[in-house]
Amino acid sequence: MPYKCHPERLHFLHTNIYRASSASGMIARPAFQDPLAYPTGGFYNPRLSEAIAQATDKEPGMITEEPLLFEISSPGQTAVAMPDTDVPPVRPEAVIPRALLADAPPPLPEIGPLDLVRHYTALAHRLFSIDQQFYPLGSCTMKYNPRVNEKALALSGVADLHPYQRDEDVQGLLEMMHRLAEYLAEVGGMAEVSLQPAAGAHGELTGLLIINAYHRDRGQKRSKVLTPDTAHGTNPATCMVCGNTLVTVKSRSDGRVDMDDLRSKVDADTAALMITNPNTCGKFDNQIGDIAELLHQAGAQVYLDGANMNAVMGITRPGDFGVDVMHYNTHKTFSTPHGCGGPGAGPVGVAEHLRPFLPVPVVVRRDNGTYGWDHDRPKSIGKVRSFYGQIGVLVRAYAYFRALGAQGLRSASEKAVLAANYVAARIRHRYAMPFPPPYAHEFITVPDFDRTEVREVDFAKRLLDYHIHPPTMSWPIHHCLMIEPTETESKRTLDRFCDVLLTLADEAEKSPETLRTAPHRMPIGRLDEVAAARKPVVRWRANDGS
Ligand SMILES: Cc1ncc(COP(=O)(O)O)c(C=O)c1O
Repeated sequence: MPYKCHPERLHFLHTNIYRASSASGMIARPAFQDPLAYPTGGFYNPRLSEAIAQATDKEPGMITEEPLLFEISSPGQTAVAMPDTDVPPVRPEAVIPRALLADAPPPLPEIGPLDLVRHYTALAHRLFSIDQQFYPLGSCTMKYNPRVNEKALALSGVADLHPYQRDEDVQGLLEMMHRLAEYLAEVGGMAEVSLQPAAGAHGELTGLLIINAYHRDRGQKRSKVLTPDTAHGTNPATCMVCGNTLVTVKSRSDGRVDMDDLRSKVDADTAALMITNPNTCGKFDNQIGDIAELLHQAGAQVYLDGANMNAVMGITRPGDFGVDVMHYNTHKTFSTPHGCGGPGAGPVGVAEHLRPFLPVPVVVRRDNGTYGWDHDRPKSIGKVRSFYGQIGVLVRAYAYFRALGAQGLRSASEKAVLAANYVAARIRHRYAMPFPPPYAHEFITVPDFDRTEVREVDFAKRLLDYHIHPPTMSWPIHHCLMIEPTETESKRTLDRFCDVLLTLADEAEKSPETLRTAPHRMPIGRLDEVAAARKPVVRWRANDGS
């Protein structure tokens, strides 16, 4: 008898039957009929279909529910085998005041080793990760991070070092840092780079402190910092933290700086312009040479938020278009996963006239070929980070540079730009684009299905059903989705993403409820996000069963 099932549910079952049966060696790959249903390939297996039907009849709930450890607890089970103690036993009452002792042991779950492993493995399979899912997370550059980088980091010559070791004992690491600083300087067209800052925003802070120190050194008191309204949010925040006065510059409808507005705001009190280029709308502002000239004529400096360097590496260099200071988000451009607050490093590069102000110490190569630290910079803004900086992230960046080489870096940027423009071109007839192409490495769409009251969050939730991580949402403009496919995704994955987005556009028009109530294939559905934030239930209580 043919089995009937809602397509949503069928996909879900396919996925999980695949897991169950591949674990038992029955099949090697998923067998999906719906080309949108899964990013990897597969073959159709009628026997498997039959198995799905049987499984549904027998155990409809078997796939979705993973109980708490407390719920699978069984008295007497344990996952550890402790050796007998070889010291005399001590009664807790003899050493701990009575008032501090509990009346009964805590109700911890008692689980055998295999159940424990299976529980956590089941939970791990529910996670989204770059190894399993596509992350078009705008401004976060969630690309593939080569495993070889992790290997480099795990080498004993890196992992086993102590920051207090003598310079003579860590020559290899110092050489690597020196080279990395040189590579970054080359890519940015900068005279020298400090590796100290621990994140992009920290790089901005360092850069603006350098600019302020430069003006002070010249006997000038300049307070104003201009930022285009397309700047990354950390730019104005940095400006406030540094005690500068923030002045916003308007951008035009094509996403580029409004030159008339800029001209009207640059004056003798202007310390700097902080510009993100390519900006957060995914547009590269090709007026940047003129912009820099305007600022320099007024005695001001140009700060480039270089977090989006993955769009321009090997194609153009900030130093060549007039930038005085910039930071790099190594954790976006040069691997290390960025989204969701992972570790970072935001090295800062400066033009020749700002070298004296760099944070101390700076790693240098001495005349005798050894490496060490230069502390002798009397005008330095001081130290901004303890020890050597975020070594783990810097080692990954170094490995990435070495693996790709100059041509590889350029090619990475070309592919990032191509991927963004390809996706934009494929969906443009259904998704409104507030800024016109061409784009750099990312773009913004404001899905316009107002009649149906489908919002950006509904698209984001529905994408989860297709095993695609939601893009960045509602920023930098209201109701937008910000999409950054990155250079490491295949055309196949990009095509599937576009197909899914087009399917969602159909759904938004024909069955908006499907989007508004998504996700349908996740372990849990739409959360009451306010309640989850304000009244989170994070504790299991033995007695109330909650
Ligand atoms: C354009 C831009 N500037 C600055 C930052 C801040 O970097 P971080 O998160 O490392 O502080 C980001 C982060 O994504 C960014 O995209």
